[in-house]
Amino acid sequence: MQIYGIIGHPISHSLSPALHNWAFKKLGYKDKVYIAWDIIPENLERFLQNLDIFQVKGLSVTIPHKQNILSFAQKISPLAQKIQAANTLVCHNGIWLAENTDVYGFIQPLQQLNMKLQSALILGAGGASLAVIYGLKKLKINKIYISNRTMSKARQLAKNLGLKEISWENKEKLRPDILINTTPLGMSGKWQNKIPWNADLKGIKVVYDIIYNPNPTLLLKQAKKFNCTTISGLEMFIYQAQQQFKLFTGQTFSFYDALNYLNTNTFQRK
Ligand code: ATR
Repeated sequence: MQIYGIIGHPISHSLSPALHNWAFKKLGYKDKVYIAWDIIPENLERFLQNLDIFQVKGLSVTIPHKQNILSFAQKISPLAQKIQAANTLVCHNGIWLAENTDVYGFIQPLQQLNMKLQSALILGAGGASLAVIYGLKKLKINKIYISNRTMSKARQLAKNLGLKEISWENKEKLRPDILINTTPLGMSGKWQNKIPWNADLKGIKVVYDIIYNPNPTLLLKQAKKFNCTTISGLEMFIYQAQQQFKLFTGQTFSFYDALNYLNTNTFQRK
C-alpha cells in the first residue's frame, strides 16, 4: 500500500481526501490511499522524519505549514523557491521535492476564459495572496493593486514585489479588470455572511473568490448580479489538486468529472 495525505491544522473541512481518493479509484489505483492528518506545528518535524517508515509517498500541505515545509525538502522547485511556499511534497526516487501547485490552480481558470485583463486588485495580503500575485504576474497582468485591512502588510508586499497599494477604505474607488478575494470574508462558518467589497461591482470584468465553501460566496452572488464573470475557489482547488495528482502518479483526472463528483457528493452532505 502507498500512502498519500494532507497535513495542516485545522484539517477536518478539507476536500482533498475526498478528491484524491475518488481519483485513485477512478484511475484504478487499488494500492494507493489518501489520509488527512491534523498536524500542529510542534509535531511537523517528527511527522516528516518518519514518512518512509509508513510508506508515505506524497503530501498535500496546507495552512500553517506551507512555508515551514521548505526546510524539510531535499529539493525545492524554482517556483516554490521564488514564492517561498509549497503545497506539495512528493517523493521521487527517494528524494523529497517541494512544489507549489497553487499558482497553476489559480491561473488555469483564467487562461480558459481567454479574456484580455490588464489590471487587478487583490484583497488581502496573507499567505494565500502570494500564489495569486505570482499567478497574475505569470499572466502578464502588470498593473496589480493590493489592499489589506492592515495597510503595512500590503505596503510591504507592494514594495517587495512591485505592486501598488491602496487603503482598505478607498479600494472600492478602483475598477480593476479583475478583483480577487484572498481574505476569509465569506468563508463558511463565522465569516459566511461577510463580504470584502462594500460597493457595486460595475465595470469589473471578472470577480475571483479563492474561497471554495460556500460556492458561491456572497461576493460571487453580488458579482453575478452585476454580470461580472465569476470564478470560484472550487475551480482553483480542483486544478491545484490535478497538478498535485500528476506529481503523485504521473496521471491526471478530468476537471469536469472532479467538479461533478464534489458538487454531487461532498457539498450536498453539508
Ligand atoms: P494568513 O493567510 O496570513 O494565514 P489570514 O488570517 O487567513 O492570514 O488572513 C488573510 C488575509 O485576510 C489577511 O490579509 C487579513 O488581514 P490582516 O493582515 O489585517 O490580518 C485578511 N483578513 C482577515 N480577517 C479580515 C477581516 N475581518 N476584514 C478584512 N480583512 C481580513
